[in-house]
Amino acid sequence: MSDLSKLIADTSATLARIASEHGPAVFASSLAAEDMVLTDLILKSGLGIGIFSLETGRLHKETLAMVDKVKERYGYDIALYKPQPEAVDAYVSQNGLNAFYDSIEMRKECCRIRKVEPLGRALAGNKSWVTGQRRAQSATRTSLMVEEDDPAHLMTKFNPLADWSEEDVWNYIREHDVPYNALHDQGYPSIGCEPCTRAIQPGEDVRAGRWWWEDPDSKECGLHMVDGKLIRIKSVAA
Ligand code: ADX
Ligand code: SF4
Repeated sequence: MSDLSKLIADTSATLARIASEHGPAVFASSLAAEDMVLTDLILKSGLGIGIFSLETGRLHKETLAMVDKVKERYGYDIALYKPQPEAVDAYVSQNGLNAFYDSIEMRKECCRIRKVEPLGRALAGNKSWVTGQRRAQSATRTSLMVEEDDPAHLMTKFNPLADWSEEDVWNYIREHDVPYNALHDQGYPSIGCEPCTRAIQPGEDVRAGRWWWEDPDSKECGLHMVDGKLIRIKSVAA
């Protein structure tokens, strides 16, 4: 059995365990490469793990196009959770549309309104949730577990791709002809909201294009917590 076949077998077993022992479960998809691997495994498995995406209102058109691609390929409608319009309107009228460039506080408040609050709604009523995080993605994810407690949402959180390398992800996508976000071919290894993500140069850290104007220590969006604290996302040296 190849290394990738072993990873796929282990990940499929984890997903089956999530569905049988920790359901109802939902998968949070950012529609990026890792999440397309999990989408493929989940939808082909018929395990009944639901898939949702946080549609922040500031995503790239290429990212939004993935919702239609998933529908075409798998006949599945990804549930989209949007921010509360009143909260967005109040933030924009008080601070401006792009106030997240002004300070870390303004940036975190935008992430809270557009990601964290909708995440709470998306997770409500479920026993566990699934993410596409990998250990090799950043220094703060080096001790990422496949299964962990999520004290913020009082549920179990699974990171079934924790052991996967970036190469494993792309080998899976190629071997299984999985649709993927066109931005990955344009210098975007990591994709968030459009105004907060830029392409990277060869040799730069894979997350260098996320909130690139901030000190690496402040990079966090509030979706992921460690030991009850927000993850401090630090770049891994290239
Ligand atoms: S982030 O914390 O820096 O934004 P990253 O982009 O690495 O996270 O994505 C890690 C995981 O967080 C994804 O695999 C996915 O499970 C979840 N995630 C991130 N953004 C979204 C989104 N817009 N909608 C749903 N899940 C998301
Ligand atoms: Fe707002 Fe940027 Fe956070 Fe998206 S990533 S919610 S645009 S601050």
